[in-house]
Amino acid sequence: MASGMNDQKFIKSFTIFLVLGVVLTLFLIYLGNLNAGTITDRVRGERNAMAEAANSNALQPVGQINVASEGAEQAETVQVAAAATAIDGAGVYQSACMACHAAGVAGAPRVGDIAGWADRIAQGGDTLYTNAIQGFQGEAGMMPAKGGNMALSDGEVKAAVDHMVALSQ
Ligand code: HEC
Repeated sequence: MASGMNDQKFIKSFTIFLVLGVVLTLFLIYLGNLNAGTITDRVRGERNAMAEAANSNALQPVGQINVASEGAEQAETVQVAAAATAIDGAGVYQSACMACHAAGVAGAPRVGDIAGWADRIAQGGDTLYTNAIQGFQGEAGMMPAKGGNMALSDGEVKAAVDHMVALSQ
C-alpha cells in the first residue's frame, strides 16, 4: 500500500514535472522565436539600411553629376536661347561699331548714309554678315573682323548689321 501511495505520488509529481517541463519548453520555444524574430528583423533592417546606404553612395554622385550637368546644360540652353532672342543689335552697334560707323571714320560707311549703303545692301545680307564677322579690306578702308571685338558672337554682329542696315536704307 505504501509503495502504491509512493507510486501514485511519484506519478503525480512526475506528471506535474512533465507538464511544467512541457510548458517551460513551449515558453522557451516561444521566447526563442520571439527573439529570433526581432533579431532577424533587426538584422534585416540593418542590412536594408546598409544596402540603401551603399546604393545611395554608389548612385548619388553619378546621379548628382548627371542631374547637375543636365540641369546646367538646360540652364545654359535656356540662357543661350534667351540671349539669341534678346540680342540687342542697337546696343552691340553702340558699343562695338558706332566708333567708326557713326561718323564714317577711316572709310567706314556712315550709318544713315543711304547712298553710301545702297551698293553694299545690294550685295545681300549674307555678304554683309560675312564681311562684318570676318572683316574685309575694301576700297574705302579696312573693316576689322567683328569691329575688332572678338568677344561678340556671330549673332550679335549680325544683329548690329541688321540695325545699321535698317537705319541706312
Ligand atoms: C575700326 C573701324 C570699324 C569698326 C569698329 C567697325 N567697322 Fe564696319 N567697316 C569699317 C570700314 C572701314 C568699312 C568699309 C570697308 C570698305 O568697304 O572698304 C566697314 C564696312 C562695314 C560693313 C559693310 C560691309 C560690305 O560688305 O560693304 C558692314 C556691314 C560693317 N562694316 C559692319 C560693322 C559692324 C556690325 C561693326 C561692329 C560690330 C563694325 N562694322 C565695326 C570700319 C569699322
